[in-house]
Amino acid sequence: MNRSEVAVMISDSVLDRAVRLPKRSYRLDSFSPNPAGNLTKPQNFAGRDIVSIRDFSKEEIDHILDMTEVMEPLARNGSDMLHGKIMATLFFEPSTRTRLSFESAMTRLGGAALGFAETKGTSVEKGENLADTVRVVENYADVLVVRHPLEGAARMAAEFSKTPVINAGSGAEEHPTQALLDLYTMRKELGKIDGLNIGLVGDLRYGRTVHSLAYALSLYKVNLFLIAPEILKMRKEVLEEVSKKIGVKETSSFSQYLRELDVIYMTRIQKERFADLAEYEKVKGSYRLTAAELGRAKKSAIVMHQLPSLDEVDSAVDPTAHAKYFQQVGYGVVLRMALLALVLGAL
Ligand code: NCD
Repeated sequence: MNRSEVAVMISDSVLDRAVRLPKRSYRLDSFSPNPAGNLTKPQNFAGRDIVSIRDFSKEEIDHILDMTEVMEPLARNGSDMLHGKIMATLFFEPSTRTRLSFESAMTRLGGAALGFAETKGTSVEKGENLADTVRVVENYADVLVVRHPLEGAARMAAEFSKTPVINAGSGAEEHPTQALLDLYTMRKELGKIDGLNIGLVGDLRYGRTVHSLAYALSLYKVNLFLIAPEILKMRKEVLEEVSKKIGVKETSSFSQYLRELDVIYMTRIQKERFADLAEYEKVKGSYRLTAAELGRAKKSAIVMHQLPSLDEVDSAVDPTAHAKYFQQVGYGVVLRMALLALVLGAL
């Protein structure tokens, strides 16, 4: 047998195995539509980057949330929807939830995950730049998930990469997939997004998740309450854009609007992003939500947090029906399953 005959034989047997793989399908007819009862029209996400939440229309966001509903049974039972696909996680900053939930999402859809969680041990230590790292890793994967301390890093990665890039946090700028899972949490826990009074509490200056969330919420009919110490007020460009579209109130007083809120979204003060630690000392521990304080909130109000949490939420809040931050973590997996399936053209 010559070399090409061997090659044919090998590729035949590989193909044969691939064909014989059990296919666990998913059924769109078991899908529960969004609370309004209308099915969103399919949108074309295949091959798209997810860099900023501002790149997406309300219809597209609603479609992602609908497709997340489709993923719920698949998260429980597993699926081969992304069999043969590979996701690479390039994390230049610490992470627990974002990285692991992406890996979990990919694995639950039958795909594979590889990557690094810190730059130690990679060529970045030798001085390799982001553009080169991206152009190398895209050869190993079908989608890249990138977290980087610099604003604009995800956009740059997307420009250099031929495979889709998902922004998993770009400096203090944006964290679009967190905003999507936050919307999904509101929809699941409160049955809707429109009509809600939503309070974002804590570090609205350096917290990237609340920037993406505020942009996303401005597409809905909500009232936003921005509760922050003076030096951590919402970034100007975000505030300007968002307040053109929805009602926004700013305050440094936590108790002022507490009774009105349907969502109390607590955030960690982002110590690592302060240029001057003396400034951090002035605002650390600014807000602490206690169970007693929650007694003054609406009975139906939910408490969310992107986590990790330091001391912003008293542990006595955890067992109350208000606390939804651990459910929020679970929604992060199904949401990311939907995003990966959409970007990789499987949905
Ligand atoms: C956050 C982040 O990294 O932006 N965490 C997350 O992804 N859920 C928020 C934080 O670190 O406080």
